[in-house]
Amino acid sequence: MAAPAGSEAPYRPRLVVLVSGSGSNLQALLDASADGRLGADVVAVVSNRADAFGLDLAANAGVEAAVVEPTPGAERAEYDAELAELVASYDPDLVVLAGWMRILTMAFLGRFPERVINLHPALPGELAGTRAIERAWDEALRGDRTRTGVMIHQVPDEGVDDGPVLATAELAIDTTIPFEEFAGEVHRTEHTLLVETVARLCDDLRHAASI
Ligand code: GRF
Repeated sequence: MAAPAGSEAPYRPRLVVLVSGSGSNLQALLDASADGRLGADVVAVVSNRADAFGLDLAANAGVEAAVVEPTPGAERAEYDAELAELVASYDPDLVVLAGWMRILTMAFLGRFPERVINLHPALPGELAGTRAIERAWDEALRGDRTRTGVMIHQVPDEGVDDGPVLATAELAIDTTIPFEEFAGEVHRTEHTLLVETVARLCDDLRHAASI
C-alpha cells in the first residue's frame, strides 16, 4: 500500500472492483486505468455471480477475476468473511462497488475501513436500493419528481446506498424522451463521475504516500 522506500516509479494505487452484472462501470475504470487518467491499476475483479459479464470484461483487459458465490443457507457474515479474505489477498487501496448487488456486513467492511466506495444512480438520501433509475422515472411520470442524479459514497457500515458522500451529479428528467435514452444518460453520468472520483481518491493516496 505505501510506496516502497527508495522507489522511483510513481506509486500506483491498487483497486479491487466488485461487480454483479454487466460491468459498464468496471469498463469505464479499466479504460481510464489503461489510458492513464487514473494512475492506478485494477488488480482484480470479484463477482458474486458466475454469469456476470463484468468477469468477461476483466478477462479481456487481462485482469485477474474471481467468483465468490453464496452458499444457500450460509450466514451472511460467513460469506462476507470469505469475500474479505480473497479481496484482502489483492492488498487493495480501494475497493470499488460498481454494480455490486449484495449488502455487505461489517464482516467485510470492517476489514477495509474508509476504503470501500459505492456507486448509486440517485442523489444522497433518495431512492436507496435496486431499480433507482426506473423508480425516479416513474415518479417523474407521475409529476412527483423533476430531477435525479448519481452519487458516490463511502461504505462505512451496513446502511444501503448511504454513507459519507464523495461526489454527486444532478440530472434533469425529461419524460418526453424514451426511458432507455434517459437510463443511458444516467449510466454515462455514472461512468464519468466514477472515473473522476476514483482518480481524485488515487491522487490523494499518491500524495499521502509521498509525504
Ligand atoms: C449501475 O447503475 C449502478 O449504479 C447500479 O447497478 C448498475 C450497474 O451497472 N448499482 P454496470 O454493471 O456497471 O453496467
